[in-house]
Amino acid sequence: MLERRFGPLEARLPVIGQGTWKQEHDTRSDAVAALRAGLDLGMRHIDTAELYGSGRVEAIVGEAIAGRRHEVFLVSKVIPSNASRRGTITACERSLRALGTDYLDCYLLHWPGSHPLEATISAFEELQAAGKIRSYGVSNFDEDELALAVRLAGPGKIACNQVLYNLGERSIEHAVLPYCRQHGIAVVGYTPLERTNFSRAPLLQAIAARHGATSRQVALAFLTRHPEVFTIPKSSNPEHTAENAAAATLELSSSDLAELERAYPLGRRRPGVPMI
Ligand SMILES: NC(=O)c1ccc[n+]([C@@H]2O[C@H](COP(=O)([O-])OP(=O)(O)OC[C@H]3O[C@@H](n4cnc5c(N)ncnc54)[C@H](OP(=O)(O)O)[C@@H]3O)[C@@H](O)[C@H]2O)c1
Repeated sequence: MLERRFGPLEARLPVIGQGTWKQEHDTRSDAVAALRAGLDLGMRHIDTAELYGSGRVEAIVGEAIAGRRHEVFLVSKVIPSNASRRGTITACERSLRALGTDYLDCYLLHWPGSHPLEATISAFEELQAAGKIRSYGVSNFDEDELALAVRLAGPGKIACNQVLYNLGERSIEHAVLPYCRQHGIAVVGYTPLERTNFSRAPLLQAIAARHGATSRQVALAFLTRHPEVFTIPKSSNPEHTAENAAAATLELSSSDLAELERAYPLGRRRPGVPMI
């Protein structure tokens, strides 16, 4: 699995990790098997959140990583309404219990909310000093919100910004991605496979055929063409997980990229950052 440095951290992480949103709706044994299959393939970055199934997904992840904690780069997120100083600490401790671990590798603010960011970052610092989180970051932050986070936390502290990024939604390329590049912040693209009708995507199929790959692998490789981008497709099907993992080794040519740029254009710059 292709790995690269994760923002300011020493850690190198696979370019393709694993999402877990909505896994509470899947058969639990399938979700657990898929996450374990992903770990076997080197997809060590597992993304979850207290929001997902109100903690039920964290419990699924806990089952999947039991006995393998040392292999995993484990990320969870605090809901903005919990992100006061005290609330963030309580939420993190609840997530740790659900996940059956005593530390997170990275803890994110799920999206900007009404609690002052200063309070959330101060809680992140306290959790880090206590060894309960190894690093912290943000999600759904635009470039102005990121600049505030960097000013409050100091340089080299915000590990990543997790944002919506797929072939049909490339808005982050206008300003968020360049800001992250300039400040050494990893970009984690979420929902990488949605908004594309893969059964009616002749260009993706043609490029995939040239590489002996699949359309979804082309879509994922298009995102990770940037050296600071990681992506976290979710699957509760081990075959899908294996397909996604193999996208890490797909190298698109400059003519593939040019064709994709034309077929899935960046679009106009809009204020803020798109989110779902
Ligand atoms: N920070 C945020 O605000 C935020 C927001 C949304 C998502 N996220 C994170 O990002 C992760 C990924 O985003 P997402 O779950 O919204 O969407 P996604 O990963 O783009 O798509 C997931 C869907 O694609 C299917 N799928 C995955 N691989 C496939 C394959 N190889 N072939 C066919 N179908 C495949 C999955 O079904 P199967 O399970 O059947 O494979 C599932 O229905 C989330 O799980 C979550 O961890 C974060």
